Amino acid sequence: MTTEVTREKTACVTGASGYLASLLVKQLLDKGYIVNATVRDPGNQAKISHLVSLPGSERLKLFRADLTTEGSFDDSINGCDLVFHVATPVLFDSNDPENEMIKPAIQGTLNVLRSCTKTKTVKRIVLTSSAAAVSIHREQEDDRVVTEECWTDVEFLFSEKPPAWGYAVSKTLAEKEAWKVATENQIDLISVVPVLISGPSLTPHVPNSSILALSLLTGNDAGLKAMQLASGSISLVHVEDVCRAHIFLAEKESASGRYICCAVNTSVPELAEFLSNRYPQYNVPTDSFGDFSSKHYTVSAEKLIKEGFTFKFKIEEIYDESVEYFMAKGLLQK
Ligand SMILES: NC(=O)c1ccc[n+]([C@@H]2O[C@H](COP(=O)([O-])OP(=O)(O)OC[C@H]3O[C@@H](n4cnc5c(N)ncnc54)[C@H](OP(=O)(O)O)[C@@H]3O)[C@@H](O)[C@H]2O)c1
Repeated sequence: MTTEVTREKTACVTGASGYLASLLVKQLLDKGYIVNATVRDPGNQAKISHLVSLPGSERLKLFRADLTTEGSFDDSINGCDLVFHVATPVLFDSNDPENEMIKPAIQGTLNVLRSCTKTKTVKRIVLTSSAAAVSIHREQEDDRVVTEECWTDVEFLFSEKPPAWGYAVSKTLAEKEAWKVATENQIDLISVVPVLISGPSLTPHVPNSSILALSLLTGNDAGLKAMQLASGSISLVHVEDVCRAHIFLAEKESASGRYICCAVNTSVPELAEFLSNRYPQYNVPTDSFGDFSSKHYTVSAEKLIKEGFTFKFKIEEIYDESVEYFMAKGLLQK
């Protein structure tokens, strides 16, 4: 359903087949945008069927583009008003993070920015960064408030190599590179910095981030514990709110700089307590955390809220919708 006419502005979305980007495409189509969506292989039905079946898909055009190919995004960005650069390799198990994540993320970001400078029509670029680019530091504190001023300590990641270090490096260096190029070329850039995203996906596969967010319910909390140890908190946001924030910031003239997008800050023990009370049927253990801390950092979305954005989903709704989605996918018993 079209909720608002936006004079048929054209927006490019990179990595459109993915979890976040496919819902972003849907929300843009719902708002009346023409959408140029890039995918690696427009001939792969499994990667595009959820896009081409969206309401409003007569305003959707698919383009082939790869982060690692120079000039790959020129056609999809040419003539656009807005560009949402979402694509990045998310390969947590990679044995070669340097070549499989870090280099393609940086190179792809530069390719997208270069394509934007070639056409005079692009008014704003919205880059999807990550809390992995702000919240990882060598020095741990009990009650740090993580804001847009913070940058993840890349030297620490290269030397200690905690789990998923390559992803965090890729997001931090790609965003830093984007800011450098945007400043040099007077490009209007906004970065959205989402925390762990959950909620139903349009993609045929269940996204890894939702699997991580629900791992206390499905019976494996190792990933969440590692996340708290590295980042100081379990911080969550609903996928719909992340997409709404992207569009809100793209359209809000006064917006500038980085914006953390986070609805909930908690810890593994606190989250286990919450889930055990709300979904007693899944027998979430609450007494197996030893001295694992229930203290946590606060990843602050104050800047985004002050800009006028309202989060629709709190922890209850994030998990209610995610649990229902997992039941529908057969990953949790009804
Ligand atoms: N999910 C989260 O919890 C979370 C949290 C914070 C930030 N983010 C950020 O949100 C964005 C989307 O993440 P997601 O969770 O939606 O992941 P996703 O489903 O894996 O989406 C990533 C997309 O990037 C594309 N991509 C990967 N390598 C590419 C390449 N070489 N060339 C072109 N496209 C390429 C993928 O295409 P294929 O489908 O062809 O592989 C996919 O469409 C990323 O920038 C991520 O860092 C996610």
